[in-house]
Amino acid sequence: MDSLGLFMLSLLLCSQWTAAPAAEEITWSYTGSVGQWQWPEYFPDCAGTSQSPVDVVTTQTKYDPSLGPVTPLGYDQHNNRPFTLYNNGHTVGLELPEWMGLGGLPWLFTAVQLHLHWGSGGPGRGGSEHTINGLSADAELHVVHYNSELYPNMSAAVTQPDGLAVLGILIVAGEETNPAFNNILSYLSRIRHADQKTLIPAFDVQSLLPKDLRRYYRYNGSLTTPPCHQSVTWTLFRERVQISKAQLIKMETMLHSSRAEDDDGKMLQDNYRAIQPLHHRVVLTSFSAESGEQLSSGEVTAIVIGVMCGCVALAVVVRFIVKTIKFFTLLHNDSLAVNSSTSSWDILPSNRPAPTPRVKNPEKEPEKIQDVVLNCTSDGEKKEEPTSSPQTEP
Ligand SMILES: *[C@@H]1O[C@H](CO)[C@@H](O)[C@H](O)[C@H]1NC(C)=O
Ligand SMILES: *[C@@H]1O[C@H](CO)[C@@H](O)[C@H](O)[C@H]1NC(C)=O
Repeated sequence: MDSLGLFMLSLLLCSQWTAAPAAEEITWSYTGSVGQWQWPEYFPDCAGTSQSPVDVVTTQTKYDPSLGPVTPLGYDQHNNRPFTLYNNGHTVGLELPEWMGLGGLPWLFTAVQLHLHWGSGGPGRGGSEHTINGLSADAELHVVHYNSELYPNMSAAVTQPDGLAVLGILIVAGEETNPAFNNILSYLSRIRHADQKTLIPAFDVQSLLPKDLRRYYRYNGSLTTPPCHQSVTWTLFRERVQISKAQLIKMETMLHSSRAEDDDGKMLQDNYRAIQPLHHRVVLTSFSAESGEQLSSGEVTAIVIGVMCGCVALAVVVRFIVKTIKFFTLLHNDSLAVNSSTSSWDILPSNRPAPTPRVKNPEKEPEKIQDVVLNCTSDGEKKEEPTSSPQTEP
């Protein structure tokens, strides 16, 4: 049997998306004759208008206060039953037990598998599928669930618009080793070739996720591999997960994309799809920009100073307005003084030096400004001042 035949058979036996009809069992890859730019010719959904991954432009996202935290269910209960880890020629996958699920969405979703996408050439060279403001991470973890309230199994759900929910976790390489990822990476040497699988010790799957499950991006998209069905409610966490450079390099260099029998020495690398146009879609956020950040002490100081300056400026303006009103009131009263019974002593002392208050003010102002600053939260005083001169509306 030739290598193509073997590869076709291998795909039939071990497809990443077990639902794919036989007609779609075509040997696809990321580059080459059925590379990602050719996918649409063989898998029509790959040419759809709600494809994944996407670039999240944070200034064009929309805050949706109804988006609560997503809640992994049973991720930490593995009952010590071993997990199955496999290489399907496209990625490393981990089968997840059916008691693991996802809450916080309109339906209950049941976990199916998780897998990774990565690049080549180490840190800072891309490898994630989703990007944020055009920037890639080094790798990306996907935890796939199907809607078990509406559909009996993954196969039935994978083609439905509300069929799947995938958690996307961006991974960056740094200095520290992430022990949780060693639960997978330590066993890659057992599944170097396509179609190999191995049992690995069970572990707490939630330890692979970021700590902050409240802040995420949400949009409707697709599988990022053929057949690209547009059935995925995406949850892309804002917090990224860190692994060490050595862990990233292990991920990038341990696996081969072909079967052991027909190994061409080709590494399983750069298994990420290019970003797809958003078209009509809007990416929602579960967090608002204002409440999203913890303010640093420097920012708090800046805000306090800013508010104080604002109050002082307001005080100066209010004072100027009051002075102006008083000045014109006094002018008005002055012209009435001849006919009125008002004692001229009430008016004259402050009226006579009318042109001079501008000179006097700077000395008196500091006290008054401070008064206003201290009371600047209560507008009572500000409103009182203008109305306290009874002749303002003659
Ligand atoms: C999934 O559910 C459908 C519909 O009930 C059924 O026909 C199919 O055999 C099931 N597939 C698997 C793999 O269990
Ligand atoms: C996804 O599509 C469903 C059904 O059309 C819609 O109700 C929902 O608001 C969409 N979600 C997002 C994040 O756009």
